[in-house]
Amino acid sequence: MTSFILPPDFPAARPRRNRRDEFSRRLVRENVLTTNDLIYPVFVREGEGVREPVPSMPGIVRYSPDTLLAVAQECVELGIPVLALFPVIDPQLKTPDGIEAANPDGLVPRAVASLKRHFPELGVLTDVALDPYTSHGQDGVIDENGYVLNEPTVEILTRQALVQAQAGVDIVAPSDMMDGRIGAIRQALEAGQHIYTRIMAYSAKYASAFYGPFRDAVGSAGNLGKSNKFTYQMDPANRNEALREVAMDIREGADMVMVKPGLPYLDILRDVKTAFGMPTYAYQVSGEYAMIKAAAANGWLEHDKVMMESLIAFKRAGGDGILTYFAIEAAKLMRASA
Ligand code: PBG
Repeated sequence: MTSFILPPDFPAARPRRNRRDEFSRRLVRENVLTTNDLIYPVFVREGEGVREPVPSMPGIVRYSPDTLLAVAQECVELGIPVLALFPVIDPQLKTPDGIEAANPDGLVPRAVASLKRHFPELGVLTDVALDPYTSHGQDGVIDENGYVLNEPTVEILTRQALVQAQAGVDIVAPSDMMDGRIGAIRQALEAGQHIYTRIMAYSAKYASAFYGPFRDAVGSAGNLGKSNKFTYQMDPANRNEALREVAMDIREGADMVMVKPGLPYLDILRDVKTAFGMPTYAYQVSGEYAMIKAAAANGWLEHDKVMMESLIAFKRAGGDGILTYFAIEAAKLMRASA
């Protein structure tokens, strides 16, 4: 941490001096947000010409692989470095083991290959988890009591990550919270000669109710029903445990780590950045986005100001970047005011 010399007493110290004029506010500003900090999460489904709105996430739509290309183009033009893909899987392909996740001809590998073919300079990130693919909506394989089994799940996740790497993805992002999955995936990637595939580990991922709109968007909410993810995602009451999770993922071979959700967990983000100094990301999740959109739609909050304030907060807390559904809007706003 930074150490300070105690400021002199008032009026030798008048903090308002530096705040008086715009030039000096700019001069003393400690953090900046740029488009380089943004990762745009998008929902992709089968079909052609699809732009299907997600009701609980105003402004967010589900794309088919063809319409996705227009979004990718927009990201390139705006300077957004990475697009993150989240699949909406046909209910008929969902099974108890979610094995469609490892299909080399599945929706995600096809979308990745097409994105990399058309926009090789745009970074593509894929989620590694089984929940969009399982008939029960859990992130892994379950036993007869509904308990998610660790090693059998890691085995399928590893195959899923390999298939994504073979399709040309730049970053795989395991969001499943199984123990040991980063190590298993890293080993498999190295063995498969995918030595440059980056792993962004959802290291400190909490069992959060803020994921609600996302589960609507990918269609896993109905599958999950009244079940929860408490046996693998973290308890929102815990702080030290997050540091142990991050430490393990780094030792297992993560290139970047993530804290999720975002704003309610800024303390964790700061802790992680300070403790490890790794490239550290925050995920401003679907429910956080929905809250701001809903309040703005009611005229209760000023949309653009709250959006930008929420994003700079991640930088101040130590984040190197943010996965946010606001990425396009924020990038446009920054371009307009540049
Ligand atoms: C899948 C996954 C989830 C999110 C990202 N990857 C949902 C979950 O864990 O239930 C949530 C993202 C969001 O809410 O925006 N494991």
